Amino acid sequence: MDHFFNNLFFTYLPHIAMTLFWFGVITRIVKTSRSIQAESSQFLKKSGQRIGGNLFHYGIILVFIGHFTGLFTPPELYHIVMTTEVKRILAVGMGSVFGTAALVGIIILIYRRVSVARIRKNSSPQDLLLLLLLLTEMVLGIFSIFTTAGSSVENYAALGEWAQKIVTFQPDAGEVIAGHGLTYKLHIITGLFIFMVFPYTKLMHMWVAPIAYFFRSGWQLVRRGFSSSTNK
Ligand code: HEM
Repeated sequence: MDHFFNNLFFTYLPHIAMTLFWFGVITRIVKTSRSIQAESSQFLKKSGQRIGGNLFHYGIILVFIGHFTGLFTPPELYHIVMTTEVKRILAVGMGSVFGTAALVGIIILIYRRVSVARIRKNSSPQDLLLLLLLLTEMVLGIFSIFTTAGSSVENYAALGEWAQKIVTFQPDAGEVIAGHGLTYKLHIITGLFIFMVFPYTKLMHMWVAPIAYFFRSGWQLVRRGFSSSTNK
């Protein structure tokens, strides 16, 4: 990739994306916090919601924990307990399991949204676009695992070095991954785009008391005891 574009996408864009992300998140919480929600569709049709929703949410949460620890743990720290090669095996193994769970989950959720007429009618184009954006990102992520497994361990270690250079404002961050494959690069650019649009989508529901959400008594976000013959 051309030096200018490589710098633009992998040195500057991460900072632009993070600035827009935090600006958007803070202003939405301060100004319009009551409009933050993910609009449950479970009252329209139950089937598919639980299995798809669970696979997607548990999968993606564990993928994010993997991204965060994998990209931001300095080698000096993880070398106390494992080599880079062992870390790579863990990333490939756990990423494959949780990434596949999240992917299968989102496919079920997309199928349910387009195949059930009353959910389709109740969906905005933005709902579908977001699901397709997440789907694209996950497919690119799964393909990235193949690159991680098939290339050198140095290639894998460079991803962590890049991420750590970004958060410590090193001007040569982009150069570290200049020679990396297109799949990784598209995955990163799409991921940064997701961060930029995040505050204006239903992804914002992640900030709404996620801890209380896990320990809530009922799954359905409407009145308890609600049922109808079509709601099966
Ligand atoms: C810009 C931020 C991001 C970076 C730098 C990044 C980086 C990576 C890398 C290097 C891999 C391959 C890991 C491996 O080989 O095991 C990967 C995999 C993956 N990514 Fe991302 N990613 C980002 C954002 C995202 C986002 C926003 C999503 C989901 C919406 C996502 C979903 C996935 C999935 C599902 C996988 C496959 C499973 C896994 O390895 O954990 N990524 N990502």
